[in-house]
Amino acid sequence: MEILHVSAECYPMAKVGGLADVVGALPKYQSALGHFAKVVMPMHRTRFLTDNEWEVVHKGTFDMGKLHYDFTIIKEKTNKLGFDLYCVDIYGLLDREKVYGYNDDTERFMAFQIAVLEWISKWHHKPDVIHVHDHHTALIPFMMKYCYAYSNISNIPTLLTIHNAQYQGWMGWDKSMYLPSWDTWRWGQLDWNNNINPLACGIKCADKVNTVSPGYLGELMQHANGLESLFNYEMGKCSGIINGIDYAVWNPETDTFILDNYNLKDFTNGKHLNKQALCREFQFDENLPLFIFIGRLVNEKAADLLPGSIQWAFQKFGEKFCCLILGSGESSVEYSLQAIARRYVGYYNTQIKYNEKLSHQMYAGADFLLMPSRIEPCGLNQMYAMRYGTVPVVRRTGGLRDTVIDYGETDGYGICFNNPSMDDIVYSIGRGIELFENKPKLLEVRNRMMNINLSWETSTEKYLNLYHSIIH
Ligand code: GLC
Repeated sequence: MEILHVSAECYPMAKVGGLADVVGALPKYQSALGHFAKVVMPMHRTRFLTDNEWEVVHKGTFDMGKLHYDFTIIKEKTNKLGFDLYCVDIYGLLDREKVYGYNDDTERFMAFQIAVLEWISKWHHKPDVIHVHDHHTALIPFMMKYCYAYSNISNIPTLLTIHNAQYQGWMGWDKSMYLPSWDTWRWGQLDWNNNINPLACGIKCADKVNTVSPGYLGELMQHANGLESLFNYEMGKCSGIINGIDYAVWNPETDTFILDNYNLKDFTNGKHLNKQALCREFQFDENLPLFIFIGRLVNEKAADLLPGSIQWAFQKFGEKFCCLILGSGESSVEYSLQAIARRYVGYYNTQIKYNEKLSHQMYAGADFLLMPSRIEPCGLNQMYAMRYGTVPVVRRTGGLRDTVIDYGETDGYGICFNNPSMDDIVYSIGRGIELFENKPKLLEVRNRMMNINLSWETSTEKYLNLYHSIIH
Protein backbone atom coordinates (compact mmCIF):
# COMPACT_ATOMS: atom_id res chain seq x y z
CA MET A 1 0.00 0.00 0.00
CA GLU A 2 1.22 3.51 -0.67
CA ILE A 3 0.34 5.98 2.07
CA LEU A 4 0.99 9.71 1.96
CA HIS A 5 0.97 11.47 5.33
CA VAL A 6 0.47 15.23 5.27
CA SER A 7 1.46 17.06 8.44
CA ALA A 8 2.75 20.34 9.84
CA GLU A 9 5.29 18.56 12.07
CA CYS A 10 7.45 15.45 11.87
CA TYR A 11 10.23 14.45 14.27
CA PRO A 12 13.18 15.00 13.89
CA MET A 13 12.66 17.56 11.13
CA ALA A 14 10.42 19.81 13.25
CA LYS A 15 8.71 19.19 16.58
CA VAL A 16 6.36 21.23 18.72
CA GLY A 17 4.50 18.39 20.39
CA GLY A 18 3.38 14.79 20.16
CA LEU A 19 2.08 15.20 16.61
CA ALA A 20 5.71 15.26 15.43
CA ASP A 21 6.54 12.06 17.32
CA VAL A 22 3.60 10.24 15.80
CA VAL A 23 4.25 11.39 12.24
CA GLY A 24 7.94 10.55 12.70
CA ALA A 25 7.17 7.02 13.87
CA LEU A 26 3.98 5.60 12.31
CA PRO A 27 5.29 5.81 8.69
CA LYS A 28 8.47 4.05 9.75
CA TYR A 29 6.49 1.15 11.20
CA GLN A 30 4.30 1.07 8.10
CA SER A 31 7.39 0.88 5.89
CA ALA A 32 8.80 -1.90 8.05
CA LEU A 33 5.70 -3.94 7.25
CA GLY A 34 6.42 -3.58 3.55
CA HIS A 35 4.19 -0.61 2.80
CA PHE A 36 5.36 2.51 1.06
CA ALA A 37 4.81 5.39 3.50
CA LYS A 38 5.74 8.96 2.72
CA VAL A 39 5.48 12.19 4.67
CA VAL A 40 5.09 15.67 3.23
CA MET A 41 5.45 18.73 5.45
CA PRO A 42 6.41 22.43 5.19
CA MET A 43 10.09 23.20 4.75
CA HIS A 44 10.62 24.80 8.18
CA ARG A 45 14.11 26.21 8.54
CA THR A 46 15.40 23.81 11.17
CA ARG A 47 18.71 22.13 12.02
CA PHE A 48 17.56 18.92 10.40
CA LEU A 49 17.09 20.79 7.14
CA THR A 50 20.60 22.17 7.07
CA ASP A 51 22.21 18.99 8.41
CA ASN A 52 20.86 16.73 5.68
CA GLU A 53 21.01 16.35 1.94
CA TRP A 54 18.01 17.05 -0.22
CA GLU A 55 17.06 16.86 -3.85
CA VAL A 56 14.46 18.84 -5.74
CA VAL A 57 11.69 16.56 -6.99
CA HIS A 58 9.05 18.98 -8.22
CA LYS A 59 8.45 22.63 -8.98
CA GLY A 60 5.07 24.21 -9.53
CA THR A 61 2.95 27.31 -9.19
CA PHE A 62 -0.50 28.20 -7.89
CA ASP A 63 -2.68 31.21 -7.22
CA MET A 64 -4.07 31.97 -3.81
CA GLY A 65 -6.57 34.80 -3.94
CA LYS A 66 -4.88 37.58 -5.84
CA LEU A 67 -1.35 36.31 -5.20
CA HIS A 68 0.73 34.01 -7.30
CA TYR A 69 3.17 31.58 -5.67
CA ASP A 70 5.97 29.33 -6.85
CA PHE A 71 6.67 26.24 -4.80
CA THR A 72 9.35 23.58 -4.68
CA ILE A 73 9.17 20.06 -3.28
CA ILE A 74 12.39 18.61 -1.96
CA LYS A 75 13.09 15.11 -0.76
CA GLU A 76 15.59 13.87 1.83
CA LYS A 77 18.09 11.87 -0.20
CA THR A 78 19.03 8.93 1.99
CA ASN A 79 15.75 7.64 3.45
CA LYS A 80 17.31 8.44 6.80
CA LEU A 81 14.07 8.22 8.75
CA GLY A 82 12.98 4.90 7.28
CA PHE A 83 10.43 6.57 4.99
CA ASP A 84 10.53 9.20 2.25
CA LEU A 85 10.38 12.69 3.69
CA TYR A 86 9.29 15.55 1.42
CA CYS A 87 9.19 19.25 2.27
CA VAL A 88 7.32 22.05 0.57
CA ASP A 89 9.11 25.34 0.13
CA ILE A 90 7.13 28.48 -0.56
CA TYR A 91 9.10 31.67 -0.54
CA GLY A 92 7.60 34.20 1.86
CA LEU A 93 5.30 31.71 3.62
CA LEU A 94 6.97 28.41 4.50
CA ASP A 95 10.49 29.66 4.99
CA ARG A 96 10.40 30.25 8.75
CA GLU A 97 12.08 28.81 11.77
CA LYS A 98 9.03 28.10 13.90
CA VAL A 99 6.22 25.74 12.93
CA TYR A 100 3.35 27.91 14.20
CA GLY A 101 2.68 31.22 15.85
CA TYR A 102 2.79 33.68 12.96
CA ASN A 103 0.03 36.16 12.09
CA ASP A 104 -0.31 34.62 8.67
CA ASP A 105 -0.57 30.97 9.76
CA THR A 106 -3.93 30.76 7.95
CA GLU A 107 -2.30 31.76 4.66
CA ARG A 108 0.77 29.58 5.34
CA PHE A 109 -1.17 26.36 5.90
CA MET A 110 -3.69 27.12 3.17
CA ALA A 111 -0.77 27.54 0.74
CA PHE A 112 0.88 24.37 2.06
CA GLN A 113 -2.26 22.32 1.40
CA ILE A 114 -2.74 23.76 -2.07
CA ALA A 115 0.90 23.08 -2.99
CA VAL A 116 0.61 19.47 -1.78
CA LEU A 117 -2.50 18.91 -3.93
CA GLU A 118 -0.95 20.63 -6.95
CA TRP A 119 1.95 18.22 -6.60
CA ILE A 120 -0.06 15.02 -6.10
CA SER A 121 -2.37 15.86 -8.97
CA LYS A 122 0.71 15.81 -11.24
CA TRP A 123 1.92 12.37 -10.11
CA HIS A 124 1.90 9.65 -12.76
CA HIS A 125 0.36 7.22 -10.31
CA LYS A 126 -1.80 7.81 -7.24
CA PRO A 127 -1.19 6.93 -3.59
CA ASP A 128 -3.68 4.43 -2.14
CA VAL A 129 -4.58 6.70 0.71
CA ILE A 130 -3.95 10.27 1.85
CA HIS A 131 -3.64 10.52 5.61
CA VAL A 132 -3.96 14.06 6.96
CA HIS A 133 -3.21 15.15 10.53
CA ASP A 134 -4.99 17.88 12.51
CA HIS A 135 -6.57 21.10 11.25
CA HIS A 136 -3.51 22.37 9.35
CA THR A 137 -4.11 19.72 6.72
CA ALA A 138 -7.83 19.10 7.22
CA LEU A 139 -9.02 21.11 4.21
CA ILE A 140 -7.35 18.60 1.91
CA PRO A 141 -10.29 16.13 1.78
CA PHE A 142 -12.62 19.02 0.88
CA MET A 143 -10.29 20.41 -1.77
CA MET A 144 -9.81 16.98 -3.34
CA LYS A 145 -13.54 16.48 -3.60
CA TYR A 146 -14.77 19.93 -4.54
CA CYS A 147 -11.98 22.00 -6.15
CA TYR A 148 -12.23 21.52 -9.93
CA ALA A 149 -8.46 21.46 -10.43
CA TYR A 150 -8.12 18.26 -8.39
CA SER A 151 -10.87 16.17 -9.95
CA ASN A 152 -8.25 13.62 -11.09
CA ILE A 153 -7.44 12.80 -7.46
CA SER A 154 -10.91 13.16 -5.99
CA ASN A 155 -11.29 9.40 -5.57
CA ILE A 156 -8.23 8.80 -3.43
CA PRO A 157 -9.47 7.77 0.03
CA THR A 158 -8.67 10.13 2.89
CA LEU A 159 -8.22 9.61 6.62
CA LEU A 160 -8.13 12.47 9.11
CA THR A 161 -6.37 11.85 12.41
CA ILE A 162 -7.25 14.28 15.19
CA HIS A 163 -4.39 14.75 17.63
CA ASN A 164 -6.05 17.70 19.27
CA ALA A 165 -9.56 18.99 18.65
CA GLN A 166 -9.07 22.19 20.66
CA TYR A 167 -7.37 23.85 17.72
CA GLN A 168 -9.60 23.99 14.67
CA GLY A 169 -8.03 26.58 12.37
CA TRP A 170 -11.08 28.88 12.26
CA MET A 171 -11.07 31.62 9.61
CA GLY A 172 -13.58 34.14 8.32
CA TRP A 173 -15.50 33.55 5.11
CA ASP A 174 -13.43 36.31 3.48
CA LYS A 175 -10.62 33.74 3.29
CA SER A 176 -12.69 31.47 1.06
CA MET A 177 -11.21 33.33 -1.90
CA TYR A 178 -7.91 31.55 -1.16
CA LEU A 179 -9.40 28.20 -2.13
CA PRO A 180 -8.76 27.12 -5.71
CA SER A 181 -12.01 27.45 -7.69
CA TRP A 182 -14.57 25.17 -5.97
CA ASP A 183 -18.14 24.01 -6.19
CA THR A 184 -19.87 26.72 -4.13
CA TRP A 185 -22.97 24.54 -3.66
CA ARG A 186 -20.75 22.78 -1.13
CA TRP A 187 -20.23 25.78 1.13
CA GLY A 188 -21.97 23.94 3.94
CA GLN A 189 -19.05 21.53 4.18
CA LEU A 190 -16.71 24.40 5.02
CA ASP A 191 -19.00 26.19 7.42
CA TRP A 192 -19.38 25.87 11.16
CA ASN A 193 -21.17 28.69 13.00
CA ASN A 194 -20.69 31.19 10.18
CA ASN A 195 -16.95 30.65 9.90
CA ILE A 196 -14.79 28.36 7.86
CA ASN A 197 -13.72 25.66 10.29
CA PRO A 198 -11.03 23.42 8.75
CA LEU A 199 -11.20 20.74 11.44
CA ALA A 200 -15.00 20.49 11.19
CA CYS A 201 -14.67 20.43 7.40
CA GLY A 202 -12.16 17.58 7.62
CA ILE A 203 -14.50 15.61 9.87
CA LYS A 204 -17.31 16.08 7.34
CA CYS A 205 -15.30 15.37 4.19
CA ALA A 206 -12.70 12.72 5.09
CA ASP A 207 -13.74 9.12 4.42
CA LYS A 208 -12.83 8.16 7.97
CA VAL A 209 -11.75 10.05 11.06
CA ASN A 210 -9.85 8.84 14.07
CA THR A 211 -8.65 10.28 17.34
CA VAL A 212 -5.48 9.16 19.11
CA SER A 213 -7.24 7.22 21.88
CA PRO A 214 -10.69 5.66 22.30
CA GLY A 215 -11.19 7.50 25.60
CA TYR A 216 -10.68 10.89 23.99
CA LEU A 217 -13.19 10.12 21.25
CA GLY A 218 -15.79 9.37 23.90
CA GLU A 219 -15.06 12.68 25.64
CA LEU A 220 -15.39 14.64 22.39
CA MET A 221 -19.09 13.77 22.28
CA GLN A 222 -19.48 16.00 25.35
CA HIS A 223 -16.56 18.45 25.12
CA ALA A 224 -15.10 19.28 21.73
CA ASN A 225 -14.66 23.03 21.76
CA GLY A 226 -17.95 23.58 19.91
CA LEU A 227 -17.90 20.46 17.70
CA GLU A 228 -19.81 18.12 20.07
CA SER A 229 -22.88 17.82 17.84
CA LEU A 230 -20.71 17.17 14.80
CA PHE A 231 -18.91 14.31 16.54
CA ASN A 232 -22.25 12.87 17.59
CA TYR A 233 -23.55 13.12 14.04
CA GLU A 234 -20.43 11.67 12.39
CA MET A 235 -19.69 9.02 15.05
CA GLY A 236 -20.28 6.24 12.53
CA LYS A 237 -17.06 7.01 10.70
CA CYS A 238 -14.97 7.84 13.77
CA SER A 239 -12.76 5.55 15.82
CA GLY A 240 -10.02 5.82 18.43
CA ILE A 241 -6.56 4.31 17.96
CA ILE A 242 -4.07 4.71 20.75
CA ASN A 243 -0.61 5.95 19.74
CA GLY A 244 2.43 3.81 20.21
CA ILE A 245 5.91 5.03 20.99
CA ASP A 246 8.94 4.72 18.77
CA TYR A 247 11.00 1.95 20.35
CA ALA A 248 14.02 2.91 18.28
CA VAL A 249 14.08 6.39 19.83
CA TRP A 250 12.67 5.62 23.30
CA ASN A 251 14.68 2.69 24.55
CA PRO A 252 16.73 2.99 27.76
CA GLU A 253 18.93 0.18 26.51
CA THR A 254 20.20 2.06 23.47
CA ASP A 255 19.37 5.72 24.19
CA THR A 256 22.48 7.77 23.41
CA PHE A 257 21.21 10.83 25.26
CA ILE A 258 21.36 9.16 28.66
CA LEU A 259 24.41 8.55 30.79
CA ASP A 260 23.95 4.92 31.59
CA ASN A 261 21.91 2.46 29.57
CA TYR A 262 19.72 -0.09 31.29
CA ASN A 263 17.21 -2.74 30.35
CA LEU A 264 14.06 -4.43 31.58
CA LYS A 265 15.85 -7.07 33.56
CA ASP A 266 18.51 -4.96 35.12
CA PHE A 267 17.46 -1.39 35.62
CA THR A 268 17.96 -0.55 39.29
CA ASN A 269 21.57 0.45 39.00
CA GLY A 270 21.20 2.16 35.61
CA LYS A 271 18.29 4.23 36.78
CA HIS A 272 20.18 5.13 39.92
CA LEU A 273 23.22 6.35 37.97
CA ASN A 274 21.04 8.47 35.69
CA LYS A 275 19.30 9.93 38.71
CA GLN A 276 22.62 10.68 40.36
CA ALA A 277 23.84 12.58 37.30
CA LEU A 278 20.61 14.55 37.01
CA CYS A 279 20.58 15.39 40.72
CA ARG A 280 24.19 16.52 40.57
CA GLU A 281 23.36 18.86 37.71
CA PHE A 282 20.50 20.48 39.63
CA GLN A 283 21.97 20.11 43.12
CA PHE A 284 19.18 17.83 44.29
CA ASP A 285 19.43 15.21 47.01
CA GLU A 286 19.41 11.90 45.16
CA ASN A 287 17.83 10.12 48.11
CA LEU A 288 14.59 12.02 47.73
CA PRO A 289 11.89 11.11 45.22
CA LEU A 290 12.29 13.15 42.05
CA PHE A 291 9.12 14.40 40.31
CA ILE A 292 9.30 15.87 36.83
CA PHE A 293 7.01 17.64 34.39
CA ILE A 294 7.88 17.81 30.71
CA GLY A 295 5.76 19.59 28.13
CA ARG A 296 4.12 22.71 26.88
CA LEU A 297 3.30 25.10 29.71
CA VAL A 298 -0.28 25.66 28.67
CA ASN A 299 -3.75 25.48 30.14
CA GLU A 300 -4.60 22.20 28.40
CA LYS A 301 -1.75 20.51 30.24
CA ALA A 302 -2.85 22.24 33.50
CA ALA A 303 0.64 23.72 33.79
CA ASP A 304 -0.92 26.78 35.46
CA LEU A 305 -1.68 24.57 38.48
CA LEU A 306 1.93 23.52 38.93
CA PRO A 307 3.42 26.55 40.74
CA GLY A 308 0.68 26.55 43.39
CA SER A 309 0.65 22.77 43.79
CA ILE A 310 4.41 22.53 44.16
CA GLN A 311 4.52 25.24 46.81
CA TRP A 312 1.63 23.70 48.66
CA ALA A 313 3.26 20.27 48.52
CA PHE A 314 6.47 21.69 50.00
CA GLN A 315 4.43 23.30 52.77
CA LYS A 316 2.50 20.12 53.45
CA PHE A 317 5.23 17.48 53.18
CA GLY A 318 8.29 19.57 53.92
CA GLU A 319 11.43 19.11 51.87
CA LYS A 320 10.74 15.47 51.23
CA PHE A 321 10.87 15.50 47.45
CA CYS A 322 12.51 17.26 44.49
CA CYS A 323 10.88 18.59 41.37
CA LEU A 324 12.22 19.52 37.96
CA ILE A 325 10.19 21.17 35.20
CA LEU A 326 11.10 21.34 31.52
CA GLY A 327 9.05 23.20 28.97
CA SER A 328 7.93 26.50 27.61
CA GLY A 329 4.61 28.14 26.87
CA GLU A 330 2.41 30.80 28.43
CA SER A 331 4.56 33.54 29.87
CA SER A 332 2.57 33.89 33.09
CA VAL A 333 3.14 30.21 33.84
CA GLU A 334 6.81 30.43 32.89
CA TYR A 335 7.15 33.40 35.22
CA SER A 336 5.48 31.78 38.24
CA LEU A 337 7.43 28.57 37.80
CA GLN A 338 10.68 30.49 37.75
CA ALA A 339 9.68 32.75 40.62
CA ILE A 340 9.37 29.88 43.10
CA ALA A 341 12.80 28.49 42.15
CA ARG A 342 14.57 30.96 44.44
CA ARG A 343 12.61 29.72 47.41
CA TYR A 344 13.41 26.03 47.01
CA VAL A 345 17.02 25.92 45.89
CA GLY A 346 18.27 22.35 46.02
CA TYR A 347 14.75 20.94 45.76
CA TYR A 348 13.20 22.55 42.74
CA ASN A 349 14.29 23.81 39.32
CA THR A 350 12.65 25.00 36.10
CA GLN A 351 14.18 24.88 32.65
CA ILE A 352 12.19 27.10 30.33
CA LYS A 353 13.05 25.61 26.97
CA TYR A 354 12.57 22.72 24.61
CA ASN A 355 15.43 20.25 24.99
CA GLU A 356 15.07 16.76 23.60
CA LYS A 357 18.27 15.50 25.21
CA LEU A 358 17.44 16.72 28.70
CA SER A 359 13.97 15.22 28.39
CA HIS A 360 15.48 11.76 27.80
CA GLN A 361 17.77 12.24 30.79
CA MET A 362 14.80 13.23 32.90
CA TYR A 363 12.72 10.20 31.94
CA ALA A 364 15.72 8.02 32.78
CA GLY A 365 16.67 9.74 36.03
CA ALA A 366 13.32 10.65 37.59
CA ASP A 367 11.01 8.64 39.83
CA PHE A 368 7.67 10.24 38.94
CA LEU A 369 6.25 12.12 35.97
CA LEU A 370 3.42 14.59 36.62
CA MET A 371 0.69 14.91 33.97
CA PRO A 372 -2.30 16.75 35.43
CA SER A 373 -3.69 17.51 31.93
CA ARG A 374 -7.15 19.02 31.57
CA ILE A 375 -7.24 17.57 28.05
CA GLU A 376 -5.01 14.77 26.80
CA PRO A 377 -5.98 13.21 23.47
CA CYS A 378 -3.41 10.46 23.91
CA GLY A 379 -0.30 11.65 25.69
CA LEU A 380 3.05 10.16 24.86
CA ASN A 381 5.08 11.34 27.84
CA GLN A 382 3.42 8.93 30.26
CA MET A 383 4.41 6.12 27.88
CA TYR A 384 8.00 7.35 27.56
CA ALA A 385 8.13 7.52 31.36
CA MET A 386 6.79 3.98 31.74
CA ARG A 387 9.34 2.60 29.34
CA TYR A 388 12.09 4.27 31.40
CA GLY A 389 10.72 3.01 34.72
CA THR A 390 9.37 6.39 35.85
CA VAL A 391 5.95 6.20 37.49
CA PRO A 392 3.32 8.33 35.71
CA VAL A 393 1.14 10.50 37.96
CA VAL A 394 -1.80 11.36 35.74
CA ARG A 395 -5.25 12.83 35.69
CA ARG A 396 -7.83 10.36 34.45
CA THR A 397 -8.64 11.88 31.07
CA GLY A 398 -8.47 10.87 27.38
CA GLY A 399 -5.47 8.75 26.54
CA LEU A 400 -4.11 8.97 30.09
CA ARG A 401 -7.16 7.08 31.32
CA ASP A 402 -6.63 4.51 28.57
CA THR A 403 -2.94 3.90 29.29
CA VAL A 404 -2.40 4.22 33.05
CA ILE A 405 -3.86 2.02 35.81
CA ASP A 406 -3.49 3.17 39.41
CA TYR A 407 -1.12 1.01 41.44
CA GLY A 408 -3.86 0.49 44.00
CA GLU A 409 -5.85 -1.50 41.43
CA THR A 410 -5.15 -5.02 40.15
CA ASP A 411 -2.07 -5.03 37.92
CA GLY A 412 -1.73 -1.26 38.32
CA TYR A 413 1.48 0.72 38.05
CA GLY A 414 0.73 4.46 38.04
CA ILE A 415 -0.86 7.10 40.23
CA CYS A 416 -4.20 8.38 38.96
CA PHE A 417 -6.45 11.19 40.10
CA ASN A 418 -9.75 12.62 38.91
CA ASN A 419 -9.64 16.41 38.95
CA PRO A 420 -7.25 18.89 37.42
CA SER A 421 -7.00 20.67 40.78
CA MET A 422 -4.25 21.57 43.22
CA ASP A 423 -5.88 19.36 45.84
CA ASP A 424 -5.63 16.28 43.66
CA ILE A 425 -2.10 17.06 42.48
CA VAL A 426 -0.78 17.60 46.01
CA TYR A 427 -2.54 14.50 47.28
CA SER A 428 -0.97 12.50 44.43
CA ILE A 429 2.49 13.86 45.13
CA GLY A 430 1.93 12.59 48.68
CA ARG A 431 1.04 9.14 47.34
CA GLY A 432 4.20 9.26 45.25
CA ILE A 433 6.36 10.03 48.28
CA GLU A 434 4.70 7.13 50.08
CA LEU A 435 5.30 4.73 47.19
CA PHE A 436 8.92 5.84 46.97
CA GLU A 437 9.42 4.92 50.60
CA ASN A 438 7.95 1.46 50.02
CA LYS A 439 10.88 0.09 48.02
CA PRO A 440 9.53 -3.44 47.27
CA LYS A 441 6.28 -1.97 45.96
CA LEU A 442 8.12 0.60 43.85
CA LEU A 443 10.23 -2.16 42.34
CA GLU A 444 7.14 -4.20 41.57
CA VAL A 445 5.44 -1.22 39.94
CA ARG A 446 8.52 -0.44 37.85
CA ASN A 447 8.85 -4.02 36.74
CA ARG A 448 5.25 -4.14 35.71
CA MET A 449 5.15 -0.93 33.69
CA MET A 450 8.48 -1.47 31.95
CA ASN A 451 7.15 -4.78 30.64
CA ILE A 452 4.04 -3.31 29.06
CA ASN A 453 4.14 -3.36 25.28
CA LEU A 454 3.77 0.24 24.14
CA SER A 455 5.23 -0.14 20.68
CA TRP A 456 3.56 0.96 17.48
CA GLU A 457 3.01 -2.57 16.18
CA THR A 458 -0.58 -3.10 17.33
CA SER A 459 -1.68 0.39 16.35
CA THR A 460 0.06 0.19 12.98
CA GLU A 461 -2.14 -2.82 12.21
CA LYS A 462 -5.21 -0.87 13.26
CA TYR A 463 -4.32 1.99 10.89
CA LEU A 464 -3.81 -0.47 8.05
CA ASN A 465 -7.24 -1.97 8.72
CA LEU A 466 -8.73 1.50 8.69
CA TYR A 467 -7.10 2.26 5.31
CA HIS A 468 -8.42 -1.03 3.93
CA SER A 469 -11.92 -0.07 5.00
CA ILE A 470 -11.83 3.05 2.80
CA ILE A 471 -9.93 1.75 -0.22
CA HIS A 472 -12.54 0.89 -2.81
C1 GLC B 1 -1.23 16.07 20.66
C2 GLC B 1 -2.01 15.68 21.92
C3 GLC B 1 -1.35 14.53 22.65
C4 GLC B 1 -1.06 13.38 21.67
C5 GLC B 1 -0.25 13.90 20.50
C6 GLC B 1 0.05 12.84 19.47
O1 GLC B 1 -0.05 16.69 21.01
O2 GLC B 1 -2.14 16.79 22.80
O3 GLC B 1 -2.17 14.05 23.69
O4 GLC B 1 -0.36 12.36 22.32
O5 GLC B 1 -0.94 14.94 19.85
O6 GLC B 1 -1.09 12.25 18.94
